[in-house]
Amino acid sequence: MELMDLLQSRRAFREYDDQPLTSEELQPILLAAETSPVGLGKYRNHRLTVIQDPKVLKQIQNIYQAPTLIVVSSPDPGQLEFIDAGIIVHNMELAAENEGLAANYNMACLASLPKTVIPAGMTPCFAITLGHTKEKLTPRDLDIKRIPINWIKKD
Ligand SMILES: Cc1cc2nc3c(=O)[nH]c(=O)nc-3n(C[C@H](O)[C@H](O)[C@H](O)COP(=O)(O)O)c2cc1C
Repeated sequence: MELMDLLQSRRAFREYDDQPLTSEELQPILLAAETSPVGLGKYRNHRLTVIQDPKVLKQIQNIYQAPTLIVVSSPDPGQLEFIDAGIIVHNMELAAENEGLAANYNMACLASLPKTVIPAGMTPCFAITLGHTKEKLTPRDLDIKRIPINWIKKD
């Protein structure tokens, strides 16, 4: 999809078909994560955890029964790492929806992640729910003023 069409079409999906993403389907999404910019180029500050085990997913709240969850974690995260995590997740969201998959940003699951699935010493910062959908994405007619803009212009 053309970039501007993708940006206008992307939306938060909260319903998913049952089957998890295959390794092939995950590939462009993980590549999108790897292509993300991160502050100071500190890529080793971040870790991705791909959760597809239904027994584990059942213990996690607010994920709308998504069959795949990817968590971005960091040791002792500060503002930089949280911003990084947002960009990494956003890259994955765009890549997923560009492939016709359903995706959504998720913060609400972080508190209920079982401690055992996140690598020792890492704090979960942000996550993305992923799955299949039969819905086709089409560009939305979004209100261009969703985010108010203050202009500082020359008099
Ligand atoms: C930082 C951030 C956190 C979010 N956390 C959640 C979440 O925990 N659960 C959820 O259902 N949606 C979550 N969302 C999705 C937003 O609710 C959604 O993007 C917003 O309402 C705009 O809708 P749209 O994405 O369809 O344009 C989050 C989005 C962002 C950017």
